[in-house]
Amino acid sequence: MTRAAFSYDFPHRHLISVADLNPVDIRIIFERAAHWLAVNRTPDKSSDVLKGLTVLNLFFEASTRTQGSFEMAGKRLGADVVNFAVAHSSASKGESLSDTARTLAAMRPDIMVVRHSATGAPRFLAERTGLAVVNAGDGMHEHPTQALLDSFTLAQHWGEVGGKRILIVGDILHSRVARSNIGLLNILGAEIRLCAPPTLLPSDVDQWGCDVFHDLDEALQDCDAVMALRQQKERMSGGFVPSAREFFHLFGLTHERLEVCSPDVLVMHPGPMNRGTEIHTKLADDPEKSVILEQVESGVAVRMAVLELIGETIRRDFGNRETGQ
Ligand code: NCD
Repeated sequence: MTRAAFSYDFPHRHLISVADLNPVDIRIIFERAAHWLAVNRTPDKSSDVLKGLTVLNLFFEASTRTQGSFEMAGKRLGADVVNFAVAHSSASKGESLSDTARTLAAMRPDIMVVRHSATGAPRFLAERTGLAVVNAGDGMHEHPTQALLDSFTLAQHWGEVGGKRILIVGDILHSRVARSNIGLLNILGAEIRLCAPPTLLPSDVDQWGCDVFHDLDEALQDCDAVMALRQQKERMSGGFVPSAREFFHLFGLTHERLEVCSPDVLVMHPGPMNRGTEIHTKLADDPEKSVILEQVESGVAVRMAVLELIGETIRRDFGNRETGQ
C-alpha cells in the first residue's frame, strides 16, 4: 500500500507536542504505522520513501530504545541517518545549544530528532534552524512518539482506544511519557486515571482532566490497561518516596492486584523498567498480559510513520517553494 492511496496531506513539518495533532492526523499515523508494522515482520524491510533525505539523531540525554528505534526507522525508510554522539560533541566543550544547532543545520540535514533535558529545546531548535524537528523527549515536558506508540499498541488490541479506562501509575510528576499520554488519550476519548503518592503528582493535576488516586487497589478497579512508570531519579533533587521496597509495596503492579481490573487488562511500561520496584518481574514477562515488548515493536513502526509523513511535508513544501506557491 503506497501513500498515494490517501488523499489527506499531513499538515505538519514537526512533531513537538501531541497537542499539535488532531484525530485525523492520529488516524493517518496509525494507518501508516500498521502498514510498517506488517512490513517489519517480513524479511524485506527496506523502502526508499525517505531516499535522499538525511535524519540527524541528536540525543543530549541517554537513550537506548528511543534512539535505536528512530535509527532503525530512518534506515528502513532509506534515509541517511547520522547519530550525533553528544557526549563527544562540542556541547561538552561549552558550545551553546543554538550554536551547535546552527552548525549542524549548515550541514543540511532534513529532519532533526532531538532529545534534551530542557523543556522547549526541540521547539527552540525548530525555530533556530528551520529544519523539521521530531521531539524524542524534552525534560519533564513531552515525548510524543512514545504516546503515539502506546496508543497504537492498545489500538492493535482493541480497535479503538476511546471509551477505555487506562491507569497510569508511578512518577507522574517527572514524566514526559505521562504528559504526552494524557494529552493523546484525551484527544482519543479514553478515560484516564492517575495513581501516585502526592509527592509524585504535579500541583495542578486537578486541571489535567484525569481521575486522581493515591490508593492503587482503588485505582485499578475495572481498568482496561495499566501503565507503570519508572521513578525519574535523574530529575529528583531529594527523597520523594521512602524506599524502592516501600514504593513496590504501595504502588507496584502484581498479578494479585490486577484481579480487580478487566479480565483482559493489558500491562504497559515505556522502559527502562525497574523490576521489583514498579512492576513484579513475573507480570512484566507474562505473555497474556504484558505488552511491553509490543510497545517496543510498535515504536519502530510509529516512528517510521512519523518520519514518512514529515518527509512528505518537506518534499511538498520544497515543491511549493520551487513553483512559487
Ligand atoms: C522514557 C523517557 O526517556 O522519557 N523512556 C523511553 O523513552 N522509552 C521513560 C523513562 O526514562 O523512564
